[in-house]
Amino acid sequence: MKIHDKTFEPFISATEIDKRIKELASELNIDYQDKKPIFIAVLNGSFIFAADLIREIHIDSEISFIKVASYEAMQSTGNVKHLVGLQENVFNRHIVIVEDIVDSGNTLKHIFDMMDRLGVASVEVVSLLFKKEALQQNIPIKYYGFDIPTKFVLGFGLDYYGLGRNLKDIYQLKE
Ligand code: IMP
Ligand code: MG
Repeated sequence: MKIHDKTFEPFISATEIDKRIKELASELNIDYQDKKPIFIAVLNGSFIFAADLIREIHIDSEISFIKVASYEAMQSTGNVKHLVGLQENVFNRHIVIVEDIVDSGNTLKHIFDMMDRLGVASVEVVSLLFKKEALQQNIPIKYYGFDIPTKFVLGFGLDYYGLGRNLKDIYQLKE
């Protein structure tokens, strides 16, 4: 499949994604029982994952959104821009950050520091994808769907120059 100037090939199917999201949700349903967590989804990329995940969460919980950007085209810039801030009071609350993918970890480091300053009770991450070998920050990624190689992917919310977010499966750059 061609998107802009690049060719992508199927990588993780919608069926596999769906199965894994249900497994992640059941872990969260157990670990956060009675904790009334606030899920904070990081826009734009995580909107589809967050929508699927939250509908498998059966405990009392809230969901909110923040928008940050650190990625330009195919590279993490390390410079995190805050585009939409957090409205909720998170003081003393249990927070679960919902990410589409963790790459360098720069975005999450920034969010972790912010949560720290706001005095949350706890903070963990649930990310659909995790490029384990690309991680540069010392942050714990407690819940993730798939550990993937350091190769560019798109689909299921993830884009390449704005395109591909609507694809039901995840595709990987063909080299
Ligand atoms: P990090 O700050 O380097 O961890 O980058 C995290 C953000 O970069 C993710 O939330 C995505 O929005 C974006 N990103 C990282 N890797 C990819 C990729 O392979 N495809 C599309 N977006 C990506
Ligand atoms: Mg993202």
